[in-house]
Amino acid sequence: MVEKTASSLIDGVDLGAATRTENYEIAAYEGLRRMAKALGEDDAVALLDENLAQEKDALREVERIATRVSNESVNQALPASR
Ligand SMILES: [Fe+2]
Repeated sequence: MVEKTASSLIDGVDLGAATRTENYEIAAYEGLRRMAKALGEDDAVALLDENLAQEKDALREVERIATRVSNESVNQALPASR
């Protein structure tokens, strides 16, 4: 099936999975941060803030790549006169 599928479609599916993963990770870190904050664990809150910032950066990067791949696949699929 992979051999018969356009590589841009496979890339799109993979990038969708990566986007979902980053969003899950962000939600997990936000939940952990809330618990650490409620417990008064300020050192843990600071570390979790760093993790959260890294995950948000990763999400923005994946979304940037996904947008580029989507635009490229549309441009390849549609006639140039569009
Ligand atoms: Fe991540």
